[in-house]
Amino acid sequence: MGKFYLTTPIYYPSDNLHIGHAYTTVVADALARYHRQIGDEVWFLTGTDEHGQKIQRRAEAAGVTPQAYVDGIVANIKQLWQLFQISNDDFIRTTEERHERAVQQIFDRLYQQGDIYKSEYQGWYCTPCEAFWLERQLQDGKCPDCGREVELVKEESYFFRMSKYADRLIRHIEEHPEFIQPVSRKNEMVNNFLKPGLEDLCVSRTTFSWGIPITFDPKHVIYVWLDALSNYITALGYPEETELFRKFWPAELHLVGKEIVRFHTIYWPIILMALGLPLPKQVFGHGWLVLEGGKMSKSKGNVIDPAVLIAKYGLDPIRYYLLREIPFGSDGSYTEEALILRTNQDLANDLGNLLHRSLSMIEKFNGGVIPTPGAYQELDQQVIDQARQSIREMSEAMAKLEVNNALIAIFKLVSRANKYIDEAAPWALAKQPDGRERLHTVLYTMAETLRLSAVLLVPFLVETPGKIWNQLGVDGIPAEQDYQSASQWGGLQPGTVTRKGNPIFPRIEDEKKEASKPETPKEEKTVTATPPQPEQPGIEQITIEDFARIDLRVAKVLEAERVEKSDKLLRLKVKVLGAERQIVAGIAQHYQPEQLVGKEIVVVANLKPAKLRGLLSEGMLLAASNEDGKLALVRPEAEIGAGAKVR
Ligand code: MSP
Repeated sequence: MGKFYLTTPIYYPSDNLHIGHAYTTVVADALARYHRQIGDEVWFLTGTDEHGQKIQRRAEAAGVTPQAYVDGIVANIKQLWQLFQISNDDFIRTTEERHERAVQQIFDRLYQQGDIYKSEYQGWYCTPCEAFWLERQLQDGKCPDCGREVELVKEESYFFRMSKYADRLIRHIEEHPEFIQPVSRKNEMVNNFLKPGLEDLCVSRTTFSWGIPITFDPKHVIYVWLDALSNYITALGYPEETELFRKFWPAELHLVGKEIVRFHTIYWPIILMALGLPLPKQVFGHGWLVLEGGKMSKSKGNVIDPAVLIAKYGLDPIRYYLLREIPFGSDGSYTEEALILRTNQDLANDLGNLLHRSLSMIEKFNGGVIPTPGAYQELDQQVIDQARQSIREMSEAMAKLEVNNALIAIFKLVSRANKYIDEAAPWALAKQPDGRERLHTVLYTMAETLRLSAVLLVPFLVETPGKIWNQLGVDGIPAEQDYQSASQWGGLQPGTVTRKGNPIFPRIEDEKKEASKPETPKEEKTVTATPPQPEQPGIEQITIEDFARIDLRVAKVLEAERVEKSDKLLRLKVKVLGAERQIVAGIAQHYQPEQLVGKEIVVVANLKPAKLRGLLSEGMLLAASNEDGKLALVRPEAEIGAGAKVR
């Protein structure tokens, strides 16, 4: 048995982590549970990345100190992971003393050995990504990663001699094909970043203070990525030679989203090389969970609150959906319809139903007691063979981190067992005077398949395996069994008294769906000249929180034109929140396109995108209209700049 040190990225404290964030952590949790189950010594680390300009600005906007700001949010993040039953062994906060002190020591050492030197930085900075960019790396003057505005930064800074280690890193990557996975991300790193030549990295800032000060020059704070990446070793006690550090470093796996592979496969290995430490065995960059309109993000207004989903559907359906639906490594799109379909098909119809019907038959035909099987026949053997094959396929998939394929392998066994029941027809055997022994073999095969499936599901589902064992009447907790023996065919003891309960996965009815729609208003229409409803007494009132969910922003119209074959619609290109968007609006009978170009208007920025006449509309503009059908755009009284918030 080996050891398995596994990390997730440490999360930026954001007041609403969405289901996309939960994806990284749930996948990591399944891997951690699997390695524990097969007997590896596991250390699973997650945490929060709490310094930097972005956090300082958010705290200022909220009128609180950065520390108070992060404390509140981190408590929520910890609660969310508890809700998901994430089995992390440690949770590191970069504001903890153990981390801050260690990062200062790391910085001191790199400076003393000449890897860090003082100079002046002049270049571009993307605050949302906390990333430095060269002029030539920008795309249309924007951050090449997130497409948002960058800021010109000119300040005294310390620099890390990245270039000194570039050749060694390229060699390491070439000699260890497993180091960056999937392979497409490896090629991207080598071809786009390493081969064109590495610039020295700016590793300190002076224009804000929310960070770890450099001991020998405290007006500088350490660059947030150098600070954050170090968490993977400071959490183990580095630079002290702790037992934890000696046992677990290097990590077997850093699991990260694809947008931060660059930091983990270029900066991080170089920092480690400079510290004389071995590199992690693998960095795996998984894809994104996307929603209509692209990657889930708060500024797009398309976030799905995971806590709401768990409250509505239960934990295991959400974990199952995340792990099963998205081919690991690729992007996957989230829809609530798919979540419901998966739950109803796989969990309710296949697994839940297999348990319920098996126990009903054991109750009816054998008094609720697991019978002793007779000699297995060809048909039974097919199920046993499928069980062995599923176990093999599952462990092969897990070794490649293909959690979705691991689940597919397990559910092949579940489907085979359902088909087996139809083929073996225990109800017919029960009627045959000499069918008793055969009936017992079939009932046993059904129940044993369920016992085994529960063992195989341990890494993925946290409540279901125990529920299955409980209904089967099996003592103990599936996750705590020795995997080698628990995954052998025949572990179920004849004579066990079953405890049939309610179906473990009731089917989800459609009406449950509405409540967890993204945080956007329900109407998806762009504005039209429909007269407003006359004011009614008793009209529904909303709270200030309801209003705060609507993100109203000033947008600047860059282009406007009529939509072909429509006398009502105009297609506008507007600038809002640092990006360009298309809005299709029903105002063509009231405004000429050229009247609008250059004007500032007001838009709902977090409205779910919709298609109108085949054109994507990414927001809605505001206009007032009266009963005579007159319409006027809502516009700021003075020019204020695209992106300004309307409240
Ligand atoms: N703080 C940095 C990581 C520092 S690690 C030394 C960071 N934090 S984050 O909060 O923005 O992201 C945390 C994780 O959530 C990342 O792996 C990121 O890829 C993941 N996800 C955020 N949105 C996601 C989706 N929509 N889909 C899948 N994963 C996504 O980056």
